[in-house]
Amino acid sequence: MLAQQKRPATSLATEDCAEIDRWIARYPADQKQSAVMAALRIVQDSNGGWLTTELMDAIADYLEIPPVAVYEVATFYSMYEHKPVGKHKVCVCTNISCQLRGSDEIVDHFKQKLGVGLGETTPDNQFTLKEVECLGACAGAPVIQIGRQYHEHLTPEKIDEILATLATS
Ligand code: FES
Repeated sequence: MLAQQKRPATSLATEDCAEIDRWIARYPADQKQSAVMAALRIVQDSNGGWLTTELMDAIADYLEIPPVAVYEVATFYSMYEHKPVGKHKVCVCTNISCQLRGSDEIVDHFKQKLGVGLGETTPDNQFTLKEVECLGACAGAPVIQIGRQYHEHLTPEKIDEILATLATS
């Protein structure tokens, strides 16, 4: 009989567990899995903006759900990262409303200013440029998200101002 395979034992940071516990408390006691999206965000934030398989396994252990239930969520939503990202993650919406309002020009301007393509990080690890689906702010198209902040009605000139501000932060 084969010995049962053991997953790597990565534990979550104490402060992350405390924050996850606050989310778990919002749901019925037998519905801990409802906190999976919050747990992924919390752990991603404290790991410098990205998730490892070991961390996702640790979340599964903590929520007492199968690892695949965590992987499914973490790979479906674009806000979860599976490789290191820059200090500032620039998410450009290229969905229909933003596309009709010039997201191609926005993407091109970021590419030119940052010197990287979509899905790439600048050599100084300051910026990652990412294409995302609708950010739910279509009335402000074209829209980008950097960190938790949305920037709407973008123009190349506004992008230059945003990048100048971030470069000094
Ligand atoms: S299509 Fe860009 S925010 Fe909705």
